[in-house]
Amino acid sequence: MPRSSLLKGLVGALVGGIWFVTATPSSSADSSSVFSPAPITAPTSPDAARQRIAALRAEIAHHDALYFQKAAPEITDAAYDALKRELRALETTYPAEAAAIAQPVPIVDDHNDGFAKVAHRTPMLSLDKAYTEAELRAFCVKTTTKLGQTTNFVVEPKIDGLSVSAIYEHGKFVRASTRGNGREGDDITANARMIRSLPHELRASNPDGTHNVIPDIIELRGEIFLSRAEFTRLNRERFAEGEPQLAHPRNVAAGTIKSRDSNETAERHLDIVFYSWGTCEPTSSSPTTQQAFHAQAKAWGLPVLETFQVVPSADEAWAAVQALGQKRAKLVAPIDGAVLKLDDVVARTKFGESDHAPNWAIAYKYAPERAVTQLRGFTIQVGRTGLLTPVAELAPVALAGSTIARASLHNREQIARLDLRLGDFVFVERAGEIIPEIVGVDVTRRPLQTEPFAFPTLCPACNSPVIAAEDVAAVLCANSTGCPAQLRERLAHFAGKSCVDIKGLGVATIAELIASGHVRTPAELYALKLETLATLSGFRKKSSAQLLAEIDRSRRADLWRFINGLSIPRVGPATAKLLAKRFASMEKLAAAQPADFSADLGKATTQAILAYLAVPNNRALMLALAKVIPRAELPSTATRLKGETFVLTGRLPTLSREEVVRLIEAAGGVVASNVTKTTDYVIAGTDAGEKLTKAQKLNIPILDEMKLLQLLKSD
Ligand code: IVH
Repeated sequence: MPRSSLLKGLVGALVGGIWFVTATPSSSADSSSVFSPAPITAPTSPDAARQRIAALRAEIAHHDALYFQKAAPEITDAAYDALKRELRALETTYPAEAAAIAQPVPIVDDHNDGFAKVAHRTPMLSLDKAYTEAELRAFCVKTTTKLGQTTNFVVEPKIDGLSVSAIYEHGKFVRASTRGNGREGDDITANARMIRSLPHELRASNPDGTHNVIPDIIELRGEIFLSRAEFTRLNRERFAEGEPQLAHPRNVAAGTIKSRDSNETAERHLDIVFYSWGTCEPTSSSPTTQQAFHAQAKAWGLPVLETFQVVPSADEAWAAVQALGQKRAKLVAPIDGAVLKLDDVVARTKFGESDHAPNWAIAYKYAPERAVTQLRGFTIQVGRTGLLTPVAELAPVALAGSTIARASLHNREQIARLDLRLGDFVFVERAGEIIPEIVGVDVTRRPLQTEPFAFPTLCPACNSPVIAAEDVAAVLCANSTGCPAQLRERLAHFAGKSCVDIKGLGVATIAELIASGHVRTPAELYALKLETLATLSGFRKKSSAQLLAEIDRSRRADLWRFINGLSIPRVGPATAKLLAKRFASMEKLAAAQPADFSADLGKATTQAILAYLAVPNNRALMLALAKVIPRAELPSTATRLKGETFVLTGRLPTLSREEVVRLIEAAGGVVASNVTKTTDYVIAGTDAGEKLTKAQKLNIPILDEMKLLQLLKSD
């Protein structure tokens, strides 16, 4: 569709590389209309109910498959819970119709090919859910009645991550696995070792001199998650770098823990917390209450829940669940509900379990806060790699304690899926209670004569045609060397903290330098003269001299920072460090051939780097930068293991993985996660996995801890 017709009846403007389409709001937003849950038009006949139940079951099964297997749900948790709530209500009102329809077999298995399977000694169960106060109270009453006396319940936060079972043998961490299908999960030991809060050993003695019982074997159950702060940090970084926003912290955690590249896992700071246990031997060392478990886990030095409450009645349970709900925005971990558990472990045995959940616990899922507001415009941001990211401009509305005026729309598909149109009244929720997200449109209030949003076919910043990216549902501006928005974002990234860190060189100054034709690439920053800087707005003699000194100082930044600053797609700090170690100079990297890249970088990353190097302008930039980096060509002081690639497998007697990595890197070596033909050494400890077998097949020298230490000492 031509842009002229798209803009019909709208006010359009191009502001600083950002294309902004606005509609004059027909009325103000309903800032007071925060409600939950979504209104449902209930079926009025048994026939209609049967049809709706069947449709809901099929839809829920579809979303289960996406959630568990791909960690890529299409809908928010809130929307999913709304479907479950609606189904639950219909099943209660129309039990005969519900029983008459076959239940689809839900896929609740997170298994991915390529991961070794680990059998759980005690199955990993899920939890039954309560969506209403009445359901939660009914659980308390039923439990107390069956026991014939009042009993304590423990109310815990329901962490929104992915379940993990961590096995400690004689106090040593040996294996971590996902829930999988509940009976066997995927082995994620290597990646779990990258989680800093996971202790490698249980603490045997306490500061007060007392000792902890260490079981021969214990399956500790908990959750791997991305903290709210880390999720916000990641998204802020991605926003600044023009990359699409991550929709949900749990999906990030699930994707990261299944990454084939442990370096990537190390870079994303995942967390872990323990709230339960499976097999514990000898059984005499098994906790007898939930409270005792929390105390024991804490004494062992394990990360435990930030908060929990012990309550003796349904009234207090409900109050505790609500109080936790109020607190959720202040907690470190993202939570999506509260878990209510019978405290006494012996009493639990009276209740048993169904095939998927224990009967002595229930999870209450919080209803999302939701607001209705009007969509006033679409902003299209152009990132440093040319990615076009749509953002919804909203009439400001209060939601969960703050005012929302913008919401990321992620990509073109998201707009099409929601069929968002200018002037629409939209439902806004906070995804994972963190970032605001448009979850639907109130079509009954749609203004007349609207048209589906046509995603721009020309870059809003430079008017060149856009292209569809290969691996993401995204659209790119192809004018990588001429688009002013891309140039500006790339320069801002290059000058930013994660790259060469030029203090005082902000986006406005960069935009002015580009507009005046003084700078187009990072290398040209180093040719700037004092007189030029002094002409920039806000700069005087002293501040120009300071900026010039800062630019000069940045020449001495580490090589990886310059590589990170190139804005090669898929290359972040971790990969940049790997490349800096492997190639040791910008010139060598510019001349790299496909054979120079080993498998540990990953196919997609290698391809992205080669595609970047295939563009003459990019290579020219690298060579120009090589000339301004004085130290990049100097041999590193750490040369003993220069260029040698190591892979670690198993547990070493005294050194932790982090210590080994530090020692090798300090000596100039590189640690990779997969064994390939180019691996120089494999360091193997106890419980070494397939990597050791592969190393033996490929005749790669295998070192134990002693030999590694000797190698580090040798001249
Ligand atoms: S207890 C046998 N406690 O929620 C009971 N689970 O939807 C095992 N979860 O599979 C679970 N926080 O991954 C328990 N405080 C908590 C939890 C929790 C999060 C997860 C867990 C479980 C899922 C069920």
